Amino acid sequence: MSPSHYAEDGYALWLRYPRLAPDSTSPGADECPRFTIILATPTGQETPTLALAQAELETALRHLYGQPPLVRLEAVDTDSLPYALRANDTKAREGFLIAPFTTSPQNNTSSSPVLRIAAASDTGILYGVFALLRQLQLSDQPFSNIAITSVPSIAHRLLNHWDNLDGFVERGYAGNSLWRWEELPDELDPRYRDYARAMASLGLNGTVLNNVNADARILTTEYLLKVAALADLFRAYGLRVYLSARFSAPIEIGELHTGDPLATEVAAWWRAKAAEIYALIPDFGGFLVKANSEGQPGPHDYGRSHAEGANMLAEALAPHGGIVIWRAFVYSPDNKTDRVKQAYNEFLPLDGNFAPNVVLQIKNGPLDFMPREPFSPLFGAMRQTPLAAELQITQEYLGQQHQVAFLAPMWKEFLTSETYTQGPGSTVAKVIDGTLNGHPLSLISGVANTGSDRNWTGHPLAQANWYAYGRLAWDHTLTSGKIAHEWAQLTFRNARSFDPETVETIEKLLLGSRETVVNYSMPLGLHHIMATAHHYGPGPWVDNLHRDDWNPTYYHRADEQGLGFDRTATGSNALSQYAPELQTLWGNPDTCPPEFLLWFHHLPWDYRLSTGHTLWDKLCLSYQQGVEEAQAMLSTWEKLAGKVDTERFTDVRQRLARQVTDAITWRDSCLLYFQTFSKRPFPAGVEPPPHSLSYYQSLRPESTPGNP
Ligand code: GCU
Repeated sequence: MSPSHYAEDGYALWLRYPRLAPDSTSPGADECPRFTIILATPTGQETPTLALAQAELETALRHLYGQPPLVRLEAVDTDSLPYALRANDTKAREGFLIAPFTTSPQNNTSSSPVLRIAAASDTGILYGVFALLRQLQLSDQPFSNIAITSVPSIAHRLLNHWDNLDGFVERGYAGNSLWRWEELPDELDPRYRDYARAMASLGLNGTVLNNVNADARILTTEYLLKVAALADLFRAYGLRVYLSARFSAPIEIGELHTGDPLATEVAAWWRAKAAEIYALIPDFGGFLVKANSEGQPGPHDYGRSHAEGANMLAEALAPHGGIVIWRAFVYSPDNKTDRVKQAYNEFLPLDGNFAPNVVLQIKNGPLDFMPREPFSPLFGAMRQTPLAAELQITQEYLGQQHQVAFLAPMWKEFLTSETYTQGPGSTVAKVIDGTLNGHPLSLISGVANTGSDRNWTGHPLAQANWYAYGRLAWDHTLTSGKIAHEWAQLTFRNARSFDPETVETIEKLLLGSRETVVNYSMPLGLHHIMATAHHYGPGPWVDNLHRDDWNPTYYHRADEQGLGFDRTATGSNALSQYAPELQTLWGNPDTCPPEFLLWFHHLPWDYRLSTGHTLWDKLCLSYQQGVEEAQAMLSTWEKLAGKVDTERFTDVRQRLARQVTDAITWRDSCLLYFQTFSKRPFPAGVEPPPHSLSYYQSLRPESTPGNP
């Protein structure tokens, strides 16, 4: 039987620990050694976390090499640790050191390699164990050469689950919620442990269990007991629980008549609620709040500001060490200002007014998780408030896990964006990790793509996005290429033979996939032209929604003259919210990077790009290119037949075939629609659509998951 026939259902994620064969690149495999590993913490005492670390080492090394390791606990004098691990903050505490260890003659077991993992906390040790196991499977270095000192870039590294209490996951494309509220707290699904283990393997240390469109009932005693059961289980994995709090909870579950943050009874209610939570969950992380956005209640309902709302909650949590994560995804139903300007206008005047335990959580772009957006200008502008990034791992606008879109390149583009706040080098990453503006509180959130599907993420390749998010949250300097390589190797390495070409093929496919989705859906800076409500597929013609700024026509502004949203001084001037350097670069269509062209400019159909193409031709060719790239992904994958296990091979092949069909639908719909304005023929090389525009306008997916 060939190795590719071993069944793989994807449940094990990147933690498969396949047996490393003698011909593998890992030299340890030749030796099949019995490792000695020393876990060194300040106390040297066994704890639940260290027990997990030991168990992980034993299971993994037995699988990888056929032999369990010898594991010893030892006390380490914290002063002997590298400075990076000694500082008195969360980042340092969660860092670790892995180093070869010179054994003294009496306990030297001659051929046995000895490594020491040291950290200032048990969680640091657990992270170190996972890093070691990853490295063993990736590196071509001898075991005894492994030396790593690693400290997370960002202190709070969270997943945000948009899970409702009835099990529905808003924008979830991998089944239902992982949390079985009706069974909790009495029955604990074994999957909770596997979830926490996966989180720890990436160094993720926080989880918001419920949807930002929150149900106040999560804060009732009945639900808090359920939450506490999960928190108890997650604790040993270094994973803290947070909850989305509904601002009107004092009215809905507290029998008050107001939620006014300045009313004393409201503040007292939240203080009592916080005390109740911390009595049950001593390490509770804090509240995530969506307020006065898309119909959610908030301080504006009482004429109060976002800062007044956030600070009232912050005061309730502060005595217990909790934080408030206040979302900046705020835009008003009756504000006629360009929607992408609104959050900046709302929050910038509040800079400096937030309590120290408040962090403002901002989506990467100023609109809403589009396939491509420039970074939100708030990251460059708000200097006195800790700013967190909110990334969307679930692929709401990028193919919803029917399609492959590896998101690391998108997140890297965002993280490495120059804000120019303090001159060149003032990247968004440095804002988020707190170093640019000197904030000790740093946080990053990813909207989870997990669900009850056996393989966690629906699309087998979507696991790479959970992985990539976790790796970047830990170390935002990692490259997309490295992350893709790691994931592909850990996830697809065959059980009995190692084929670097397979890994390389998957890696390349992943790396180009997001740009492919951009090309066939929203190229050249187009945005928000998807179908209504479920957001799957094209809908550039939609113009009848009751809010202007929910209509695709609001964003693309196609007319007989041209296409795009003028956000320069002659238009909405959203550009003015960025640094002068960016205003100069992006404000001129000739210097604006093509990927942002129609985000910032309304240009004539015959506008000539630097490539020599007219806008119309370039638009058509971009869509065509996206289709061809999708087709190429399918044929690349097909070459892996027999090299990847049949289960995952077939699943991915089917989804890629659908992706090709979807890409064609995007191209044909958008081009036929925009052609009604441009009145120009398709350039050579663009396949003519087989149907009329009305055919595409009549297409309706039968049912789509995740649509609230
Ligand atoms: C998007 C998404 C909503 C979600 C919202 C948010 O608009 O479609 O489902 O509630 O973002 O981030 O709050």
